[in-house]
Amino acid sequence: MVKKGARESQKSRRISTSGDIEVSTYLEIAKEIAGELPAPAAEAVSGAEREAIILIDFGSQYSMLIARRVRECHVYCEVVSHDTPWEKIAPLNPKGFILSGGPSSVYEPNAPLAPAYIYESHLPILGICYGLQVLTSQLGGRVAPGTKREYGHAILHLSDVDSPLFADLPQSSPVWMSHADRIDEMPPEFSVLAYTENSPVAVMGNGKGIFGLQFHPEVAHTPQGKTILKNFIYRVCGCKGNWTMGNFIHESISRIKEQVGKGRVISALSGGVDSSVVATLIHRAIGDQLTCIFVNNGLLRREEVERTFNTFRLNLGMNIVYSDSSKRFLTRLRGVADPELKRKVVGEEFIHVFEEEAKRIGRVDFLAQGTLYPDVIESASSSTSAPAKIKSHHNVGGLPAKMKLKLLEPLRYLFKDEVRQAGLELGLPEEMVWRQPFPGPGLAIRIIGKITKEKLEILRAADWIVMNEIKKAKLYRQLWQSFAVLTDVKSVGVMGDYRTYGYLVAIRAVTSEDAMTADWARMPYDVLAKISSRIVNEVPGVNRVVYDITSKPPSTIEWE
Ligand code: XMP
Repeated sequence: MVKKGARESQKSRRISTSGDIEVSTYLEIAKEIAGELPAPAAEAVSGAEREAIILIDFGSQYSMLIARRVRECHVYCEVVSHDTPWEKIAPLNPKGFILSGGPSSVYEPNAPLAPAYIYESHLPILGICYGLQVLTSQLGGRVAPGTKREYGHAILHLSDVDSPLFADLPQSSPVWMSHADRIDEMPPEFSVLAYTENSPVAVMGNGKGIFGLQFHPEVAHTPQGKTILKNFIYRVCGCKGNWTMGNFIHESISRIKEQVGKGRVISALSGGVDSSVVATLIHRAIGDQLTCIFVNNGLLRREEVERTFNTFRLNLGMNIVYSDSSKRFLTRLRGVADPELKRKVVGEEFIHVFEEEAKRIGRVDFLAQGTLYPDVIESASSSTSAPAKIKSHHNVGGLPAKMKLKLLEPLRYLFKDEVRQAGLELGLPEEMVWRQPFPGPGLAIRIIGKITKEKLEILRAADWIVMNEIKKAKLYRQLWQSFAVLTDVKSVGVMGDYRTYGYLVAIRAVTSEDAMTADWARMPYDVLAKISSRIVNEVPGVNRVVYDITSKPPSTIEWE
């Protein structure tokens, strides 16, 4: 049996999709306290130009990926659950619908179906996998369990080369399948447009803008998939393609001006990409009405404070309140060895400092936050349509209710890669835009056991070398995260003629899409060798270096 405490501490481990995890973690709860309703997504693109593809989500692990692919084609894509009413969708000016895949079988009782308005609107529809089966079942065809599950590569052969969906496609191309059910009978008026060896109906269409695909066009294993999506968006739906980060920035700036008026905005700055882009965007819109609060918790890496400060105050000319609170944090962390307690202490102290600094600023009306689109979707999706919610934010307290701030969340329409593009477009340095995520509790959760000043210095020096060598080897951007961990193991070594007894440093480098799962990076041996030899030679107190070769799961990315 899992003990209650153990279960709670598992629950409180934060698993985030956001790269700028630190600030969003601390300020997450402010959202509930502020009670401000989010701005309607229709504001993402201005009225006259507005166009959108609506993705009806049936719980596929690939829904976000489909939306990203559509947006890569410069058309705004909004992900909604299958029970979203038309009134919420109409203001977006939809040009077409995509029905996602999903884990259900359409012939089972209570299987989620598409809302009637998608058929009544006479707009084009593209059903993908489960979406194809939904179309089949709702339009009068028949879906049956397949004799075997089809999973993996297949070759798609076109039978109707003139279909607008297939423009610029070769006669045969590889596609990625993942389904158990099959189409037994197509709905009336539909015909087969393409087939594979095991799927006689790999693509079907009715000649009136409704299509179904049995395979997944959004994944990298379907190399022509993006062309198919592009054909649907432009040739079938007639979109113009106005979703660019330039347009987004332009729109955001006027929206922020309108929303804030003469009000004052505060924002927590960490140097991470999300909070940096938020601050820069708002600063463009309202200049000195924005004040950023940058808290040094004493758990940051070498040169982090200077770099962040120089970029924002000196180069971008922002109003920044710098709070050197290292002593407070380190005093409160004295003797704390439990990882969850470390998180709690750092989180609570952050809120205290933030509140004190905000009070000093005087009247404040808005709190800016780097909420991203996946967070919005995750909290908005209905329980039947969203994939299991893994993230939890229980590790820290929220901002006190008495602050009564309205929320400003200009990135709530953007995926992470779009935030980075927006950052580049806003002129932020590449180093900042491509920064790897860094956890809010900082080095506190990378020092195993109790934190001391001496250990912080050792870890900073070792981490600096890791970063330096990884950047030199041009591996930094390929890795989701790469860092050093100071373990509380000491071991025997020999240096020159002397026996040493020093710390063990572990190197962690992982690849990941979203931090939910991660694989240990297959780093070149010579890079590892260089890191190891530099650490033992340059960092006093360390005489052994190991490389962590576990993936997540079963491990986590951080050691604590
Ligand atoms: P784990 O270690 O759970 O980490 O695999 C997943 C991602 O979350 C980051 N992380 C945190 N971020 N507060 C944060 O702001 C935390 O307490 C925390 N714990 C882990 C971690 O760096 C990785 O990106």
